[in-house]
Amino acid sequence: MGIETSCDETAAAIYSGARGLLAHAVYSQIALHAQYGGVVPELAARDHVDRFVPLVQTVLADSGCRLAELAAIAYTAGPGLIGALLVGASGAAGLAAGAGVPLIPINHLEGHLLAPMLDADPPAFPFVALLVSGGHTMLVAVAGVGRYRLLGETLDDAAGEAFDKTAKLLGLPYPGGPELAKLALEGRHGAFHFPRPMVNRPGLDFSFSGLKTAVATRLPPDASREVRADVALAFEEAVVDTLTIKALRALGAAHATRLVVAGGVAANRRLRARLEADVQAHGGRVYFPPLKLCTDNAAMIALAGFKRLADARLPPLDIDARARWPLAALVPPGMQVEEAAP
Ligand code: KG4
Ligand code: ZN
Repeated sequence: MGIETSCDETAAAIYSGARGLLAHAVYSQIALHAQYGGVVPELAARDHVDRFVPLVQTVLADSGCRLAELAAIAYTAGPGLIGALLVGASGAAGLAAGAGVPLIPINHLEGHLLAPMLDADPPAFPFVALLVSGGHTMLVAVAGVGRYRLLGETLDDAAGEAFDKTAKLLGLPYPGGPELAKLALEGRHGAFHFPRPMVNRPGLDFSFSGLKTAVATRLPPDASREVRADVALAFEEAVVDTLTIKALRALGAAHATRLVVAGGVAANRRLRARLEADVQAHGGRVYFPPLKLCTDNAAMIALAGFKRLADARLPPLDIDARARWPLAALVPPGMQVEEAAP
């Protein structure tokens, strides 16, 4: 079983090595946070408490499994909102202790990186992953489970966060990414031009906060819908261009041909079309996992748990939850060394 509660989605799933994904359920808190224009950590944690047990019951019923039959319970131990993580971690530990099932703490980012393996046509290792969500923007060279090399990441705002903040400037509701993309369809090419942050510098890091500031300074007060659509299009083109240039550079740097795109921003049609065309033109192939596996879910946590069965431990009564947990700290399954006492 996989459990995910790192941000504003509560999710549970059951994965079988022999039979694949048996059940998965996600409850999104978007409506809860919409009135605040962003995720409120304390409200998120409290809502996870309410959703946790019903979701676990749902996936057990849907899969026909009993708790004690599970090989292990994998849960997102970080990175994420600490209060939200603690709900999933303590819930998973409670279930595991009650049923005598081992536990596996999973890194949320590893979940995203391995999610494409759930697809009917999974990419082979090695590949480069472009992870673009509301909380993360990174390029990772993936050689195998637990073999990750961070190639680049955002120095400030994540791509989805830049979409959401810019959408707010344009007067669109939260989460603004999809709304901004919709408005951009009405925009005229070339009416505005925004910078492509950091593309002229070597390296694979991103920076999106300046782009949002550029929009704030160029957007006329009381702009008409027409002008806002022009700005939305120019902003979207700047983000898509930047992500594409860096993704191609990352494939070159990692000597890889396969690019996997994950995270909520992978839903963006302009980004998909552009990456598909440009990566193909360079002799590579892009993989877009189905959207329900791109955004936060527990199927990816259950799968990561399956790949890390070698790390399963009967639950101690302490709980592992980390607001920060860099991917580079991970090791392949079965290679974890117990931390020495301080
Ligand atoms: O992965 P995700 O569902 O949640 C986390 O951030 O963990 O990603 C959500 C992000 C939001 O910032 C949302 O605005 C963005 O993905 N997003 C989009 C689109 N659909 C979702 N951004 C641009 N275009 C879209 N079509
Ligand atoms: Zn995520």
